[in-house]
Amino acid sequence: MQPDTQKKLHNGVAIPTVGLGVFQIENGPVAEKAIRSAIDAGYRHIDTARAYHNEESVGKAVRNAGIPRDEIFVTTKLWNADIRAGRARAACEESLSRLGLDYIDLYLIHWPAEGFEAAWSEMETLYREGKLRAIGVSNFQDHHIDTLMQNATITPMVNQIECHPLLTQKPLREYCESKGIACEAWSPLGGTGGNLLDHSALAAIAQRYGKSVAQIILRWDIQGGLITLPKSVHPERIASNINIYDFELSAEDMAAIDSLNQDRRVGPDPDHFNF
Ligand code: A2P
Repeated sequence: MQPDTQKKLHNGVAIPTVGLGVFQIENGPVAEKAIRSAIDAGYRHIDTARAYHNEESVGKAVRNAGIPRDEIFVTTKLWNADIRAGRARAACEESLSRLGLDYIDLYLIHWPAEGFEAAWSEMETLYREGKLRAIGVSNFQDHHIDTLMQNATITPMVNQIECHPLLTQKPLREYCESKGIACEAWSPLGGTGGNLLDHSALAAIAQRYGKSVAQIILRWDIQGGLITLPKSVHPERIASNINIYDFELSAEDMAAIDSLNQDRRVGPDPDHFNF
């Protein structure tokens, strides 16, 4: 393995730097096929959530992959309704049961819904019990992390955030880095229905490296220290999205991609969400 295929979280757990994101992939044969193609292409990291309604397929594909369980990193997330209802432990156990797994590699608070401090405390206990190898948050701004840390005994290992060349999130990433929190990118390719992959500046860079625009973006992610979670249901795209360890972007090209930032979200704003 080349050095940047994995990162170490602050508790020493290794996490593959590319994972298959399975948001909006239908539970059943479609999800199972996508995950199987990912594992065949060398992915060892799958990112799901209670709210994606496909944990069953993720678990089934992981269990049937013919790869030792401890070589595949599985993330799922605690949904907002469960945070508000104060049922983090029950929700975690339900996710484990749907996945058909004994432990979850990374369990995240999906959004900073009301009650996330109490949820975090329950997650700390589940972590200490060994059901979760790492715990973290998602869609947290710096002030949400500050609030969480007021009563936390464990610093989140991860913050999973929307991040791509039009929303580079530099201040939040620097804040997380200063706390030892690894950042993961969701919608790294600009999300479903976006047009980031048609961006002319990215196309020009891609042409120079003989790579696709998606590969350039995903390489920019991992070279910039992110863990990245591209979604696809197409085996050939799934395979090409992880084929990014055989080249390096120059410092100039990294900076050129950084400069495309417009602070433009494709998803909800963590300070103003209504679900
Ligand atoms: P599909 O699943 O049909 O391949 P994001 O990861 O930012 O959420 O983006 C996912 C979107 O990008 C999906 O619509 C996915 O469609 C598409 N996609 C993923 N990988 C590629 C690729 N290598 N080339 C073109 N489109 C891609």
